[in-house]
Amino acid sequence: MEQYPLTGVIVSEQNISNLSHEDRTFEPPADLAAQANVKAGIYDEAAQDRLAFWADAAHRLTWGQDFDEVLDWSNPPFAKWFVGGKLNVAYNCVDRHVENGDGDKVAIHFVGEPGDTRTITYSDLKDEVSRAANAITDLGVTAGDRVAIYLPMIPEAVIAMLACARIGAPHTVVFGGFSSDALASRVDDCEAKLVITADGGYRRGNPSALKPAVDEALDKLGDASPVDHVLVVRRTEQETAVTEGRDVWWHDVVAGASADHTPELFDSEHPLYVMYTSGTTGKPKGILHTSGGYLAQSAYTFWATFDHKPDDVYWCTADVGWVTGHSYIVYGPTANGATQVLYEGTPDTPHKGRWWEIIEQHKVSIFYTAPTAVRTFMKWGEQIPAEHDLSSLRVLGSVGESINPEAYVWYRDNIGGGTAPIVDTWWQTETGAHMITPLPGVTAAKPGSAMTAFPGISAEVVDDSGTPVADGEGGYLVITEPWPSMLRTIWGDDDRYRETYWSRFASQGYYFAGDGARKDEDGAIWLLGRVDDVMNISGHRLSTTEIESALVSHPKVAEAAVVGAADDTTGQAVCAFVILRESAGGGGDDLVTELRNHVAKEIGPIAKPRQVMVVPELPKTRSGKIMRRLLRDVAEHREVGDATTLADSSVMDLITAGMSKPADD
Ligand code: PRX
Repeated sequence: MEQYPLTGVIVSEQNISNLSHEDRTFEPPADLAAQANVKAGIYDEAAQDRLAFWADAAHRLTWGQDFDEVLDWSNPPFAKWFVGGKLNVAYNCVDRHVENGDGDKVAIHFVGEPGDTRTITYSDLKDEVSRAANAITDLGVTAGDRVAIYLPMIPEAVIAMLACARIGAPHTVVFGGFSSDALASRVDDCEAKLVITADGGYRRGNPSALKPAVDEALDKLGDASPVDHVLVVRRTEQETAVTEGRDVWWHDVVAGASADHTPELFDSEHPLYVMYTSGTTGKPKGILHTSGGYLAQSAYTFWATFDHKPDDVYWCTADVGWVTGHSYIVYGPTANGATQVLYEGTPDTPHKGRWWEIIEQHKVSIFYTAPTAVRTFMKWGEQIPAEHDLSSLRVLGSVGESINPEAYVWYRDNIGGGTAPIVDTWWQTETGAHMITPLPGVTAAKPGSAMTAFPGISAEVVDDSGTPVADGEGGYLVITEPWPSMLRTIWGDDDRYRETYWSRFASQGYYFAGDGARKDEDGAIWLLGRVDDVMNISGHRLSTTEIESALVSHPKVAEAAVVGAADDTTGQAVCAFVILRESAGGGGDDLVTELRNHVAKEIGPIAKPRQVMVVPELPKTRSGKIMRRLLRDVAEHREVGDATTLADSSVMDLITAGMSKPADD
């Protein structure tokens, strides 16, 4: 059972200071507002008949068989959207654009980190997706089978996902930065039959291998491995071990396959993908999204939130391994027939202006990134973007965490030419698509606020008892009505689904998002961070428990407690407190490095603690619960708060006395 400490810190001091820092409001540019895809009236229209609004959004898709009921909520919290409808997701994302005469339109401008490029039109995409669909069918994958995808940011990632969707085989994309252990646990949990990977990808100027992690993961699973085949894309041409009978090359089986493939219709509720995300326990949750509702909302929000027009060039800098890459690189944009940039590498390779160079070169008009990236560019200095012509940009997006007003204004001024509206989009892996966001042609946006619920979405901020708070007050963010792209369950664990999201406000039937929020005097929503033991590192979700488990799996560690501490660039940073086993023979810099690397190996470099502090004791209540709040005080160099509920009140003195220095990388 997952427990949410609702009395925890919901409003951090940093967030409070943000609230008063900027009280500016930015009106939409008049020309954009006049031409906008959605106008102010959309809110009332959606409120008058929410289901009719979503039915209209769904009818922007092409259905093989129309639905006869918009929503079946007879068995909450298990929703069915667009009941009776049948569609093929890949047909909607690819084929129909070719049939409509847009075959020559560019779908993907791929930019490899070393500077190689590929231009893929919708016709090309149709051929590639069809070939891949035929090839993975030949490898024994049929509708309903799961496929794990572990790829760098190359076009094959998009092609593989769409090919799975085309044959009704739910994919689970594992971020390429995750370790072999993380891959193994996901492959195991969803019993993937096929893994699609690459020899490697380019990162920071060098080839970085991926396939060895797949081999390690499958070795680890041994005889219990559900995987029959591994399909390997050749990207870096690194030497790659091939297991006879199991591994096949993409350039053999996909390139050699027919480009004719008839897309089959699947039920609106057919599983589309499972995306693992961290919860408050050590075991990641497999968030299940299905077809019709997910595609309807990701496609509609892409069109409305970004005001997407046929001639726009869009670029989202997320990785396909996260939900943002699913909804706003793969499904939302392609369902709208958008032209987009896909970039493989890091922002500073080979130079710190790489992103701005790409925007200038491809005349990107809609740009979607994360606050942590914006803060990094702020540090590097405004002279870097100033060297490039960014005048093509007309809408900017932000996702992953609240964008602090300083970063917002910097982003608007230095990237958006002082005029481009910023859409600060709040949503989650679980929500599948945008839920709270300004609309670029409608909303007078306030820096730091995600503003208001998207049309057709009912968000509220409530107190402990589920009663809406007054404007000007804070509480817990809830979604009060089901929405099309909502998660359907946690893969293989309906009870955990119910317990995690629907039990806290069960009597009201609200979805509990796990975030704290505040409504200002005008009713605009300000997100205040997680209220549970989930951290947000560079806009990515990590659980404290997961990292604690990784630490205690090290032979020298007896006990560990992890907290997220405020960090100027990454939003939060991982700070770990460990008690060593006696046999470890004391701490020291080498051990700290060893433990940090151990976490990186167990989970992935993103989880590597910024600090590891060796302590003699951990602060616990009499019932044995670790008081992370006090550890957060230590990690953020604050005076330690109320420690009266500690079983042993001298513990905090011992900890603060023995604090070690932060690591450099
Ligand atoms: O805490 C919120 C934060 O990220 C969490 C969702 O993380 P994840 O499922 O990994 O999805 C990230 C990309 C959608 C939320 O519970 N979050 C996301 N976007 C925002 C945000 N917090 C504030 N403002 C946002 N715009």
